[in-house]
Amino acid sequence: MSQRQLHLGLFLFATGYHPAGWRLPEAVADGAFDPEFLRRVALKLEQAKFDFFFLGDRLASAAEEQFTFPSQMVRLEPFTMLSYLAAATEKIGLIVTVNTTYAEPYHVARMTASLDYLSRGRLAWNVVTGADPRAALNFSREKHWDNAKRYDYADEFVDVVKRLWDSWEDDAFIRDKSTGVFVDESKVHAIHHRGSHFSVLGPLNVARPPQGQIPLLSAGTSERSQELGARFSSAIFTGEILLEEARRFYASIKGKLARYGRTPDELFIMPGLVPLVGRTQEEAHAKYRELSSLLVTDFNLGPLSNRLGIDLSGYPLDGPLPDLSLSNHPGDKARRLVELARRATGHEDITIRELFHYFAATARGHLLIVGDPERIADQMEEWFVNEAADGFNICPPYMPGGLDLFVDLVVPVLQRRGLFRTEYEASTFRGHFGLSRPENRYAKRTALQGAAE
Ligand SMILES: Cc1cc2nc3c(=O)[nH]c(=O)nc-3n(C[C@H](O)[C@H](O)[C@H](O)COP(=O)(O)O)c2cc1C
Repeated sequence: MSQRQLHLGLFLFATGYHPAGWRLPEAVADGAFDPEFLRRVALKLEQAKFDFFFLGDRLASAAEEQFTFPSQMVRLEPFTMLSYLAAATEKIGLIVTVNTTYAEPYHVARMTASLDYLSRGRLAWNVVTGADPRAALNFSREKHWDNAKRYDYADEFVDVVKRLWDSWEDDAFIRDKSTGVFVDESKVHAIHHRGSHFSVLGPLNVARPPQGQIPLLSAGTSERSQELGARFSSAIFTGEILLEEARRFYASIKGKLARYGRTPDELFIMPGLVPLVGRTQEEAHAKYRELSSLLVTDFNLGPLSNRLGIDLSGYPLDGPLPDLSLSNHPGDKARRLVELARRATGHEDITIRELFHYFAATARGHLLIVGDPERIADQMEEWFVNEAADGFNICPPYMPGGLDLFVDLVVPVLQRRGLFRTEYEASTFRGHFGLSRPENRYAKRTALQGAAE
């Protein structure tokens, strides 16, 4: 068996993951709506042999997000963007995000199957139930459902979609010009679904997608989301910043798989990673400091105080950090955060302002590491060999330069170490992850049911 290797994807934030990424002189600030920019990014990923291009989605927006997360404030609709990129690329996997809370399974089965065809088997679906409660107000509802209802709905939703994908057997199409028989009706199946939330007859009006079953991904943190992931997902996106916590999460999720008749190598854990790469350590730290100086913020220390377990009000912003043993959090969580901030800043005696800069840059939960290519590769390797990650969802801090540096300088180091592929061995999403194509659930059953429909 070949050596276990990393999987790498891009988690696209068109203006960069860092809230001030777009303000760097060399950054492209308007790439989100520019097809040429998006195409160039996707081709760069293919050049690096990345596994996938991933686009998140939210169903609400507000102008004040400009200072915290401009990339999420406005962006293209995922199916539309990825259809375009499917035509512009050949190998890279494409991950579309669909929120089940505000959708219908028949629509989603149809759109995903269609895009799997247009990409020749390169699609995966990031199943979310909606991190943004404001979406309710855009979909004629008064309230975003609670976690239990969203995941009850999502469980049934996903089950219906998966059955719809199977409603046409792979060899249902005869297209015999001499007899005039286009399809073998015994190989076409209505799904007759009647559940708590959906009633769907089927069959789908798209043939079985090229991958048979389109791989699912998920990214929730709640127990219900983890169960959904353990049951259905081929990959789980996470946002840990501490190695020990990431290892715990990894072991916990992999431990749930047996319950669903699955093995640990069928599910890949992919934390986000924000690599701020410089040719040298000093260059990387200088870029980090430049980004920090560009943050637009009122230095509200409330959230950081909560995170540290120390009330920072009353401490001077440019003074030293308080004694971390004052933290009312158990364990050494506060100390770990400070350690990461010190490493990013490049010196030990950081101020509260500098800690705030690190916190603001990582408030969305992904690990920011600052360094030269070897140092960044070292940290990736450490997480990989210690079973904290099977790969990473790369979130460049600014675009496109932050991605280019990672691809041009870090990927070759990973390849030299045998940790990452140097050529594609497959051209489907399943293929990149070594996942086999599942058999159609109806194929083994008698053809009687289908013939009667
Ligand atoms: C890497 C990553 C990507 C995510 N992408 C999205 C997204 O695009 N849209 C969304 O609504 N939620 C997204 N989420 C949020 C999760 O799906 C989930 O709703 C959130 O973590 C809250 O967890 P829960 O749903 O288990 O309560 C993402 C989470 C992570 C860690």
